[in-house]
Amino acid sequence: MSPFLLTRTLPEDATDAALRADVLHGLGHLPKTLPPKWFYDALGSELFEKITELPEYYPTRAEREILLARAGEIAAASGARTLVELGSGSSDKTRHLLDAMADLHTYVPVDVSESALTQAGHALIAERPGLNVHALIADFTGGLTLPGTPGPRLVAFLGGTIGNLLPAERATFLASVRALLSPGDALLLGTDLVKDESVLVKAYDDAAGVTAEFNKNVLSVVDRELGADFDPAAFEHVALWDAEHEWIEMRLRSRIEQTVKIPALDLAVHFAQGEELRTEISAKFREDGVRGELAAAGFGLTHWWTDTEGRFALSLSKAA
Ligand code: AVJ
Repeated sequence: MSPFLLTRTLPEDATDAALRADVLHGLGHLPKTLPPKWFYDALGSELFEKITELPEYYPTRAEREILLARAGEIAAASGARTLVELGSGSSDKTRHLLDAMADLHTYVPVDVSESALTQAGHALIAERPGLNVHALIADFTGGLTLPGTPGPRLVAFLGGTIGNLLPAERATFLASVRALLSPGDALLLGTDLVKDESVLVKAYDDAAGVTAEFNKNVLSVVDRELGADFDPAAFEHVALWDAEHEWIEMRLRSRIEQTVKIPALDLAVHFAQGEELRTEISAKFREDGVRGELAAAGFGLTHWWTDTEGRFALSLSKAA
């Protein structure tokens, strides 16, 4: 039986403190914002899984196509003995990669969800005797410390989640990933690409209304965790393309003038009719931009792979 280790680098109450700080800051300043990480409670994670199966939401399928086609090349080019996956969730999409990595010594899934890590970790070691799994309960945007497993290391950050960060946050994040690595270690990064506006907007405003429900779920999270009285039905889902910044924005537009109480913060938040609360940016990329952001953080891009329709890219970079 190969070992399964679980290390918590997040204090039990870190989530609660971070949510309070984010809500206090985000709803206390104009324009109002909430960070997208609070979408993902149990219901939100389920809704996101449903999103990945929608006909309009292509990124998950496009990335899976690339991973399937390129797993062997990724394994060979990285030569990795340790695979670190940031935001691993169910580790589903990583299976293809793990299967191709014959020399892998340890898989290090990193996620804030202990249940997802435990479930996925045990399933993996049962399937693959000899593989060590050292799961980390951690917020990968904060200070991570990796276990002392053998190199070379490959850090994977998939799904296009880097697009949820603002440009300055991306620079900080990529530099912090670089700081975890040694020269010759690698980063595998998933990025959604700039494309026709209507295709992009439909991916974030699907006909079945699943993304609208996902977006409004953040209000239910604040209601449950902080005792707030948001009525999700009093807000309308908005998805728009910001052509200047080349990102999708999701917003919640107040249908009425209203004041929402948040007892845990001793706060009352006023919304004008039509006022919008930004809940997510999802940046879309071009090859030159990705190469430049990686270079600024100390990575040299060596491979750029897209799906056959050119919608999504996986890039492999080496720590300089
Ligand atoms: C999981 C962050 C990659 O930005 O496309 C899906 C989240 N938001 N539909 C994305 C999301 C709305 C998704 N990521």
